[in-house]
Amino acid sequence: MSERVGCALVTGASRGIGAAIARGLAQDGWPVGINYKTDREGAEKVVSEIECDGGEAVAVAADVTDPSAPEQLFAALDSHFGTQVLVLVNNAGINRDDLLPSLGDEEWSAVIETDLNAAFRLIRRALVPMMRARTGRIVNVASVSGLRANPGQSNYAAAKAGLIMLTKTAAVEVARRGVTVNAVAPGWIDTEMTAGVAKDLLAAVPARRAGTPDEVAACVRFLAL
Ligand code: NAI
Repeated sequence: MSERVGCALVTGASRGIGAAIARGLAQDGWPVGINYKTDREGAEKVVSEIECDGGEAVAVAADVTDPSAPEQLFAALDSHFGTQVLVLVNNAGINRDDLLPSLGDEEWSAVIETDLNAAFRLIRRALVPMMRARTGRIVNVASVSGLRANPGQSNYAAAKAGLIMLTKTAAVEVARRGVTVNAVAPGWIDTEMTAGVAKDLLAAVPARRAGTPDEVAACVRFLAL
């Protein structure tokens, strides 16, 4: 395991794709901040798994939709690991699916706040120290829903499409400073988010199976190299 000069922060990492990404980055030698909103037990379990595997991790609470979350999270990691965040993975996300005529303001706003606005604030907080360090990796977890239409997902699609263009714009702004900003756009991944979704949708997946969190984590680990 290589010695790292910085640390990684994965939002929404107490379960699902975020937990797999956190475990993967820890295997690559990053001390990892496991952000959670309310699921402290889940986050502590991920920390234990990482520590059992010889890695370093800490659970850090914050609701990423709170505008003060970036400062809280970065300060907590700085004080715990004594090092700055050089890998940021914006993974926290929610969906609130409904067809447009019945989609409520709350469902619209909650998804835009969590899946897009929170990522914007975290990226903004991360960039300056990364640019000063002349290195940094930001990976945003978007979705195929941000690339092609899916009935009932206008809020989620708008947020993820916005996240993809936020990613591309950030990437060209900072490319010369040694910082990369990328997004992954998974299809159907077997997690609690998709637990209630009708399995017949898998007919549209060429492999006829759901992806796994570890498969997404492998892409993120590559982009964090
Ligand atoms: P999940 O529901 O298991 O995980 C989402 C995580 O985000 C949870 O730990 C949740 O507590 C956390 N979170 C939600 N709101 C938060 C907030 N305000 N502050 C902090 N944490 C918060 O779902 P999954 O599948 O692991 O999703 C992870 C990411 O992958 C999401 O961004 C999702 O949109 C994206 N994605 C998932 C796909 C799938 O098929 N499961 C496909 C494409 C993208």
